[in-house]
Amino acid sequence: MKKIKIADGIHMLSMNVEDMLFEGIWEIANGVTLNSYIVKGDKTAIIDGVIGWDGVPETLYKILGEIDVDPKEIDYLIVNHMEPDHSGWIESFKKINDDFTIVCTDKAAKLVTSFYGDEENIRVVKEGDTLNLGKGKKLSFHPVPNVHWPDTMYTYESDTKTLFSCDMYGAFGKMDEHHFDDEMTDEEIEFFEDEGIRYFSNVMGTFAPMVKKAIKKSKELDIDIIAPGHGPIYRQNPQKIMSDYSRFCKYSSGSGKKEITILWGSMYGMTKKAVDFAETVLEREGLKVNSLEMPLESESEMVATVFKSAGVIIAAPTYEYKMFPPVAAAIEELGRKKITNKVAFRFGSYGWSGGAERELKEIIERNRMKWDFVEMVEFEGAPKSEDFNKIEEGILKLLENMKDKTI
Ligand SMILES: Cc1cc2nc3c(=O)[nH]c(=O)nc-3n(C[C@H](O)[C@H](O)[C@H](O)COP(=O)(O)O)c2cc1C
Ligand SMILES: [Fe+2]
Ligand SMILES: [Fe+2]
Repeated sequence: MKKIKIADGIHMLSMNVEDMLFEGIWEIANGVTLNSYIVKGDKTAIIDGVIGWDGVPETLYKILGEIDVDPKEIDYLIVNHMEPDHSGWIESFKKINDDFTIVCTDKAAKLVTSFYGDEENIRVVKEGDTLNLGKGKKLSFHPVPNVHWPDTMYTYESDTKTLFSCDMYGAFGKMDEHHFDDEMTDEEIEFFEDEGIRYFSNVMGTFAPMVKKAIKKSKELDIDIIAPGHGPIYRQNPQKIMSDYSRFCKYSSGSGKKEITILWGSMYGMTKKAVDFAETVLEREGLKVNSLEMPLESESEMVATVFKSAGVIIAAPTYEYKMFPPVAAAIEELGRKKITNKVAFRFGSYGWSGGAERELKEIIERNRMKWDFVEMVEFEGAPKSEDFNKIEEGILKLLENMKDKTI
């Protein structure tokens, strides 16, 4: 865990986490940071805590000592969001400090009690409520419900115009030496933009309509610094992460980069022959192609890659009268993440009955995904030259449909 000074009396405490499945599902190839913040006036507040893993709270206490904060004398615990990646340490904290006030929304208060036991010292806050810490440090609270969980709020510090945004404006990716946008190289900026896409699509995508409202709410505040619960701090250009998040909301509802993702699976290589052919056509047409072979690809990568692409090709054979299960499961997952309105094309091999196409339509329908498919191509066994011709036609039609979706 590291301490990083943001301004007089304000520090970030950040730890890199690797080798874990985020939310118990997402394989995060490049790690993630968990950021906690200390604001010190006459009174001291900690905004979002740390995860409750063995040894983590103790490390936090030690680092607090290095910035002259005695954890026993922390007055306020601001819980922007009760998910245990930000609050798990409360159990440990209660053992060393019995005189602190939890500040949170009414929905978070209920969760705090159900997760960590009866709490008497909770102050429930509503939109615009303030807390004066002294020495010029004044906090205000701004609920952004259903930005991940129903309980979430922003905390804003008016002296430094800092927005502590919790899960909003977060990104995966661990931080080494650089923590502020103005310290980062162009490669690091690009890295965190990609990790932002992966985080947004994996964790926040389902809540895109609420994220849009939260973007609007942040634009109503006068912000110099955005300090999220995961990922870098934006102080040179806080507008960048706001406009990135607006764009990510559009990816969620069908727009994307000028890229095609082929989401495919093949048991004995028949469908793969057509995938290889499709790749050569797309390369000839100058398109960036992302090839995701299921089930070899991680869920996290799969969701992020389809999410950011303006065009999608599904290539999967029939398996026991339905679609090859790893590809079917991937599409179900995209449905849960509410990735809607993509333009798409599907082809695949079958042996005697087919069935993949019917199941694909059912999945798209059931999840109300509203994907716009060009006519699908099914072929018996290995693809023949007439199948390749139909696939090429389908791809050219897809490229045409993609034009309106590319941003
Ligand atoms: C386990 C298994 C189940 C299958 N079930 C069906 C089926 O229900 N209906 C059908 O038309 N073909 C079925 N097939 C045949 C495949 O769809 C066919 O072999 C196809 O060419 C496989 O394409 P691939 O090599 O790209 O996996 C099945 C094949 C396997 C191995
Ligand atoms: Fe969360
Ligand atoms: Fe989080």
